[in-house]
Amino acid sequence: MTEVVSLPLTAWSGEIEGGLRARGVEALEAGAVLAFPALCFQVRDDELDLLAPQVGAKSKNISLSPGGDALKGVEGDEARARRMQQMIGRFADQAEAMARSLLAPYAGALQRARTSFRPEEIAGRQTSWRKDDTRLHVDNFPSSPTRGKRILRVFANINPADEPRHWRLGEPFERLAERYVPALPRPLWGSAQVLNALGITKAPRSAYDHYMLHLHDRMKADQGYQRTAPQSTWEFAAGSAWMVFTDQVSHAATQGKCALEQTFLLPVQAMQDGERAPLRVLERLMARKLA
Ligand code: SIN
Ligand code: FE
Repeated sequence: MTEVVSLPLTAWSGEIEGGLRARGVEALEAGAVLAFPALCFQVRDDELDLLAPQVGAKSKNISLSPGGDALKGVEGDEARARRMQQMIGRFADQAEAMARSLLAPYAGALQRARTSFRPEEIAGRQTSWRKDDTRLHVDNFPSSPTRGKRILRVFANINPADEPRHWRLGEPFERLAERYVPALPRPLWGSAQVLNALGITKAPRSAYDHYMLHLHDRMKADQGYQRTAPQSTWEFAAGSAWMVFTDQVSHAATQGKCALEQTFLLPVQAMQDGERAPLRVLERLMARKLA
């Protein structure tokens, strides 16, 4: 079962002691969630209005590009958008500083990707089954193939009503892969090139991306699995943060609003033990290279 390992970080910047770093990296690669109960992202008083649900919003999340210059999904006037960008950008910088310090063994290999703000209440939200993150799944990006790179995410719960964010955590990636791999369809010859030529993907999907997307979909579509899979629940308190490889750890978010999230990509080669990467697990099971 997925473990949650708590680390006593209290600041987003500053050097982190070697023993703590080693424990963090080991637990993370083993498929644990790292929780930071005392790591609070400070929302300024003049930003509190940004946490209210967006009226008439088309997308459930607001997201900032890796360079911090392009904001998507924000409603309201120019001044509000600028303040939103500043708040999300400040979180991105702090999450990056913390990740680089805690995961010092990855050195320059960690790549900053998008940042998101998730203002809406998750419980009771209407979405398609495929986008329904209250169902256990592993992450991957339909339009941005990772070709085996790891997806690492840092979350902060900034709920102004002091309510926790509720997650479900599932079984280890190896178990998941053993269960579903035999049922996953092979990629159709030439399909990755066609999807890319049509602009549906930003780069050609590798076989790895193909299988990860199908794994994501199979898990979410399987109601029996959702009910009976080995799982536990966890509450991340308001004013706390956590970090997890979401391509590896089976997870679902079932309740809560107002979270910030920073995504990083990490090449498998940069890991302490790359054999634990989903890419390597799938390659072992299928006995061939997938990226
Ligand atoms: C997810 O990645 O499935 C959602 C996590 C969250 O918003 O808490
Ligand atoms: Fe997810």
